Amino acid sequence: MERKFITYFEEQGNDYTDDLISAVKDKLESSGDIKRILIASSTGESAMKLYGALEDEDVEIINVTHHMGFKEDNVADISDEMIKKLEDVGIKTYIGAHAFSGAARGVTNKYGGFSPLDVVADTLRMFSHGIKVSAEISIMAADAGLVPVGEKIIAIGGRGKGVDTAVILTPVNAKNLFDMKFHEIIAMPKD
Ligand SMILES: Cc1cc2nc3c(=O)[nH]c(=O)nc-3n(C[C@H](O)[C@H](O)[C@H](O)COP(=O)(O)O)c2cc1C
Repeated sequence: MERKFITYFEEQGNDYTDDLISAVKDKLESSGDIKRILIASSTGESAMKLYGALEDEDVEIINVTHHMGFKEDNVADISDEMIKKLEDVGIKTYIGAHAFSGAARGVTNKYGGFSPLDVVADTLRMFSHGIKVSAEISIMAADAGLVPVGEKIIAIGGRGKGVDTAVILTPVNAKNLFDMKFHEIIAMPKD
C-alpha cells in the first residue's frame, strides 16, 4: 500500500499553470521512471513554460495542439514561430484529429444527437476537463507514434487556456480505448 498526496486547485483556470508545473516537477523527481510528458498546449505557451521548469531533467516533452481549422479554416492555434521555438528545445508539436471528436463531430453537427465518444469525453470531464484532455491527447500521440503504448507517461491538460490537471497514465491506441490505465492523479481542480 502507498499513501500519496494530490494537489487540488480551487477552480478550473489559467492561474494554476505555474503551480501545476511545479507539482509535475516534484512528481517527476520522486517517481524516477517517467521518460515522457505530454502536454495539451494550443498556443505552445504552457509547453514552453513546462520546458523552462524541466530544462535540466532527463525527460522528453511532446506538445499536442488543436487540429487545423479548430477556430478558422486552414489556421492552426499555434504559430509557426512557436512550433520552431519548441522544436529548437527538443519539443515536437502534434496537430491532428481529436481522438474524442474527429469526424464524429461532423456527423453530430449535421444530423444532431451524440456519438458514443461524447459520452466517454463527458464522463471523464466529471473529474475535470483536464482529465478528459489528458486521455485524449495520449491516444492522439500514441496513434501518431509519438509515445509508445504500454509505458507510463505524465499527461497534462486544462480548461481552455493554461493547464490545471496532470496524471500518470499508460497510453493506448484509439482501438484499445478502454485499456487505458490512469495510475495517479498528480493535480486537478476541485470544482
Ligand atoms: C486535443 C485537445 C483537446 C482539448 N479539449 C479540451 C476540452 O475538452 N475542454 C477544455 O476546457 N480544454 C480543452 N483543450 C485545451 C487544453 O486542455 C489546454 O487548456 C490548452 O490547450 C492550453 O493551451 P495554452 O498553453 O495555449 O494556454 C484541449 C486541447 C487540445 C490540444
